[in-house]
Amino acid sequence: MFYRRVVRPLLFSLPPEWVHHASFGMLTHTPLASLIEPFARQNFPTLEKKLFGLTFPNPIGLAAGFDKNAEGVMVWPKLGFGFMELGTITPRPQPGNPRPRVFRLPAEQGLINRLGFPNVGMEEVAQRLERIKVSGRWPGTPVGLNLGKNKDTPLTEAGRDYVACFRRTRDLADYFVVNVSSPNTPGLRELQQGQLLDSILGPLREEDPEAKRPLLIKIAPDLTEEQLETVVTAVEKFRLAGIVATNTTINKEGLTLQEEGGVSGRPLTARSTEIIRTLHRLTNGRVPIIGVGGIFNATDAQEKLEAGASLLQLYTGFVYEGPLIARKTCDGLLFRFQHPS
Ligand SMILES: Cc1cc2nc3c(=O)[nH]c(=O)nc-3n(C[C@H](O)[C@H](O)[C@H](O)COP(=O)(O)O)c2cc1C
Repeated sequence: MFYRRVVRPLLFSLPPEWVHHASFGMLTHTPLASLIEPFARQNFPTLEKKLFGLTFPNPIGLAAGFDKNAEGVMVWPKLGFGFMELGTITPRPQPGNPRPRVFRLPAEQGLINRLGFPNVGMEEVAQRLERIKVSGRWPGTPVGLNLGKNKDTPLTEAGRDYVACFRRTRDLADYFVVNVSSPNTPGLRELQQGQLLDSILGPLREEDPEAKRPLLIKIAPDLTEEQLETVVTAVEKFRLAGIVATNTTINKEGLTLQEEGGVSGRPLTARSTEIIRTLHRLTNGRVPIIGVGGIFNATDAQEKLEAGASLLQLYTGFVYEGPLIARKTCDGLLFRFQHPS
């Protein structure tokens, strides 16, 4: 209530990307997260999940893009998240697209972004993660790393970028995600199909032939069922550990703002749940799905779990509902498990 009534109106009066960096800085460089921790962090033994050899204390994770440079690794568990996905990282640092590049859709509870993978590059992120490992402060929640390609790497050579990121970070995260679904890197989503997809997943599999490191693929919500079938075939062929569904959508039908970029939040909720349902059917439930797209509360979370997701992630819900969202969603899920309707 306090966040929605007091904090959010204040934050929403300021530019979105500025607010992201300011609140991110407050969470990572001040005691704010530790002050929130007693309210946000809670043990939910019945919500614990074991998947790809990892233990997730609860199923609500922080989605990729929020902590692109691995600066808040110790913070996200304090806010009650059961896991985090860092990145997207690329081999070389890059600035991303010109600003403004993040827009709010308050009426629709959404965001449009066209950031284009701004990040400090794999080397700096790897060193950051190494320092955390060496110092013994590695979090008790799984850490995923989302891998991408540099904007200027031709699509036909994209495999090289993903392999470079994986080689440098293979011992520095618990699971890895091949991001071929951001709408803000020209041509990237073409990598979701056919030869181009094989040209990424093949070399990545050769790096880890025994599939010791869980490797997942993150897909767009704009794929047709036929295209989803192709993805599933590739997932099985290259023995991927799972699918992250979904990234932002390029469908802006009926929205009050028509900015270039990908839409997240409420306008995406139903579509991403539909994709999860289809994937669950196409794989006969054999491939774990991380469901993401427009989760704001336990109802949204439960819908995605019922559609076939094993784990969940959120980004835009954090912006709209505030730092207690993971805790509140887990509270709601627990209540529903204990009181099935
Ligand atoms: C500002 C912003 C930046 C994002 N950056 C990334 C990214 O770098 N890599 C990625 O895989 N997804 C990225 N995403 C997509 C989210 O991880 C998530 O898939 C999508 O926003 C849907 O979830 P949501 O409705 O809970 O936000 C970004 C989303 C937003 C809003």
